[in-house]
Amino acid sequence: MKFTVSLLCLLVVSVATAADTNSIYHDGPSSPSATTRQCWIDLDKNGKKDVYEDPSQPVAKRVEDLLKRMTLDEKIGQLQQVSMQKDSDKKLTDKLKAGEISSFLDGSALIETPVMRNKLQHIAVEQSRLGIPLIFGHDSIHGFRTVFPIPLAQACAWEPELFERTQTISARESAMAGIDWVFAPMVDMARDPRWGRIAEGFGEDPWLGALDAAACVRGFQGTNCADTNRVVACLKHYVGYGAAEGGRDYNTTDISEFTLRNFYLPQFKAGVDAGALTVMSAFNELSGMPSSANRHTLTEILRDEWKFHGYVVSDWESVKELIDHGVAADDAEAARLALTAGVDMEMVSTTYADTLKQQVEQGLVAKKVLDDAVRRVLTVKFEKGLFDHPFADANNYKTAFLQQDAIDLAREAAAKSCVLLKNENATLPLSPHVKKLALIGPFAEDGEEMVGPWSSRAHTNDIVSLADAVRTKLPFDFQLIVARGCSIIESGKSRRHLGDFSVIKEIPTGTNEIAEAVEAAKSADEIILTLGEPRDWSGEDASRSDLGLPGRQMELFNAIVATGKPVIVVLFNGRPLAIPQIQKKAAAILEAWFPGVQGGNGVADILFGDADPAGRLTTTFPRSVGQVPMYYNHLNTGRPGIGEYKGNYADGPNDPLYPFGFGLAYTTFEYGQVQLDEPTMKLGGTLTVHVQIKNTGERAGTEVAQLYIHDLASSVAPRPVRELKGFQKVILQAGESRDLTFTISEKELGYYDTKGNWLAEPGKFQLWISKDSASGVPVDFELVK
Ligand code: NOJ
Repeated sequence: MKFTVSLLCLLVVSVATAADTNSIYHDGPSSPSATTRQCWIDLDKNGKKDVYEDPSQPVAKRVEDLLKRMTLDEKIGQLQQVSMQKDSDKKLTDKLKAGEISSFLDGSALIETPVMRNKLQHIAVEQSRLGIPLIFGHDSIHGFRTVFPIPLAQACAWEPELFERTQTISARESAMAGIDWVFAPMVDMARDPRWGRIAEGFGEDPWLGALDAAACVRGFQGTNCADTNRVVACLKHYVGYGAAEGGRDYNTTDISEFTLRNFYLPQFKAGVDAGALTVMSAFNELSGMPSSANRHTLTEILRDEWKFHGYVVSDWESVKELIDHGVAADDAEAARLALTAGVDMEMVSTTYADTLKQQVEQGLVAKKVLDDAVRRVLTVKFEKGLFDHPFADANNYKTAFLQQDAIDLAREAAAKSCVLLKNENATLPLSPHVKKLALIGPFAEDGEEMVGPWSSRAHTNDIVSLADAVRTKLPFDFQLIVARGCSIIESGKSRRHLGDFSVIKEIPTGTNEIAEAVEAAKSADEIILTLGEPRDWSGEDASRSDLGLPGRQMELFNAIVATGKPVIVVLFNGRPLAIPQIQKKAAAILEAWFPGVQGGNGVADILFGDADPAGRLTTTFPRSVGQVPMYYNHLNTGRPGIGEYKGNYADGPNDPLYPFGFGLAYTTFEYGQVQLDEPTMKLGGTLTVHVQIKNTGERAGTEVAQLYIHDLASSVAPRPVRELKGFQKVILQAGESRDLTFTISEKELGYYDTKGNWLAEPGKFQLWISKDSASGVPVDFELVK
């Protein structure tokens, strides 16, 4: 079938077929911002430049012009996102022509090219009445083809700019594959490591999480998300999803307004302030109303208070799930509840498409509510530049993936994410004199496990395993013996391969495997033992009821330790683990998380001392699963401390295995006394704080100096025993001392009341500058009027 389209920017009238992927409209990747170019497409093919087609008009004007031309059906169509289907699907084509689909998810990602996307877009733009472009979404959570460490790992770098850089690459690769919109960052705060999605977030601290959230948004959207190498970001899952009871995914949450405002919302607020154009409503029920029907959070807070002007997409079928939650009797009620609460676009389920027309016609849903939702969707499509440049480049994607800068950054990020948890007798870094190295454990040769959950388009061949990386370490001249020792799990929930998603057949531990590993260990002068969790035991629907190492890994560990030689444990996992026996018996422990496609290289860089362990935990490691939820910024009880009637466990300690902020370097640092310029700070003023840090070891190292405060008496609700309010990541040479200066203002001392007002109240505070959340000596100061 042939059709004609005007493209005045090129002063051409061209003819193309719907199947032609080398579209005349395509933008080259280095083309300037789409919004700044003089170019229009006659989307409704009436031969006129209508206001909505005119790139020189302000977005708001274009939106209003388009909105008034739309039929009720077309408006409802703009609220429907569908999962990718085959382009030969006749019904799909008809729906696109009728303007009944607004967005696809996962489409082009299936084939890693924009071909399919462009085909669908051609139909939407050229064969529907108004030519409204589709927006294509995908879960690029920690990279696309270049998969970076999981977000929880990257957060441990305490370097928000790292997120900005990795998400910039993720945006570039995603955009080249034809993706306009990524369902990231996940900014859910989580305190319960049983919850598998803790891997996708930044950890337990709202202040640091807010910095990371904003950095991710900047990385995805850049300064203009219409640029061809940028994508629209989506803050998810709004809100409280990380508080799932029992750590079981999708489970109920009950969060007080005060806790919501101070712990769960700040990361979203920071993302909105950074310009995020979309938000995803969560699956969970939140304090009496599911998040996807929660008008208080979706409209009163997000829009009325924060002035968010983008759109909200539901999570996968979370509108329809309102029926299962028990707040809607049928599809119509689910649609009505979600839309009026503030969910603009429905992901996958079709309650809007199936029921809204009738409900609007009958006056059950106000026309204005519908128009507002459509207006928000259209606004983002205009801002993304889709009306002016609807197609993705069909050639450039071929060279877009795994470019050298991406690979280098993936390696840097993998190293920066590592947290050194133990290093007895300076076991690490490996001595350059090592002659025989035993690399043992189920993660030694395994590349696939390195990329963790949500590994997007990772290809097995792109991944560098730890064994591959160690083999390339020169000038180290040593013999390497690799022994699996055991399987990661012996049995359990079925698991999937990357790419083809075929089911992994676990190869159970062989009869002699552990004994062979022990022999390898005995013959070596250094032993690295890789342990952890399967990569798909983290992420969505991947909760655990136990936080130990699965399968026969502890048996392997104990057998290797029994050789009497120092054992270096490298952990690959997506959540804090409760591993007190490993902490006790290993000589060194390196937490590598799921470090991504360059994981092997990044981790090897740390092991061999070519990179400095600079990561610090952003999530508490409990001693046992019974301690969770466990987090550093908890409130005091009326009986703080240790002793009888203090609320301590009868069968074990109260403190964590590793606290928030913890991490060692290959050197040691000494903190001097914290000095305040003044013992008081005036409301509206600032307070300058100094500390001297000395590198007391024999090699250069990186330290993350952390500033915490404690507000001793609040008028609204008690404040946490400590709250992170600043940090500096510094490199000090051996023997070097450095004076660090921090400035705090009201912004760091206040908190939100239940109405969302930020309060800083006069009174006494404690302040620490320390190496983690459990150490240091506080100084006192007073905030005065
Ligand atoms: C469900 C997940 O909860 C969400 O994070 C994801 O973005 C959507 N599925 C789309 O894949």
